[in-house]
Amino acid sequence: MLPKHPSESLTTLTDLVLPSETNPLNNLFGGELLARMDRAASITARRHSRRVCVTASVNHVAFNRSIPLGSVVTIEAKVSRSFKSSMEIFIDVWIEDRESGVRTKANEAIYTFVAVDDTGRPVEVAPIVPESDLEKERYDAALRRKQLSLVLAGKMKAQDATELKALFLD
Ligand SMILES: CC(C)(COP(=O)(O)OP(=O)(O)OC[C@H]1O[C@@H](n2cnc3c(N)ncnc32)[C@H](O)[C@@H]1OP(=O)(O)O)[C@@H](O)C(=O)NCCC(=O)NCCS
Repeated sequence: MLPKHPSESLTTLTDLVLPSETNPLNNLFGGELLARMDRAASITARRHSRRVCVTASVNHVAFNRSIPLGSVVTIEAKVSRSFKSSMEIFIDVWIEDRESGVRTKANEAIYTFVAVDDTGRPVEVAPIVPESDLEKERYDAALRRKQLSLVLAGKMKAQDATELKALFLD
């Protein structure tokens, strides 16, 4: 299968925060942001694999800044690394200032999607070749995150998580 670049799977979703999507402090409800990120990541996974893709795991979410009612929220999702059938999707969330238009990073998240066939069985996806420094950095750390996710899910023994162990022992 021919390798692809992360830019080929880039998905950008821009939308407003409406009153029905906020918590009592008038900030975007966390579950609403998770759903928007899942949608963007799902399109990204599909663009990379050209297959049906399912969410296997939400590996990391950082709600660093609250997002007020009326904000324009932009979600950018890219495949940071592909493995055999799974893809790590890195998501950056931005809000833009109404007057200046300057964008501020509000949140980020990492999801894992798996490409499946019509019966839901995992199928192979294209390898990925990172280009920018940030893409290379995210690519390099992805195997460690995959191992951590598998260990936490009880799908890998801690002693087999070589990349993860190296983080603590080196
Ligand atoms: C995700 C799913 C397809 C994995 O199926 P499975 O039988 O565990 O298949 P495998 O063990 O072969 O795993 C497939 C890939 O997923 C990866 N994977 C599975 N669970 C994972 C986890 N918790 N974290 C990271 N990767 C995971 C495996 O490492 C493997 O990756 P690779 O092929 O790139 O090496 C299956 O669990 C599923 O269909 N889950 C439901 C998905 C869904 O409905 N999502 C929406 C939730 S509402």
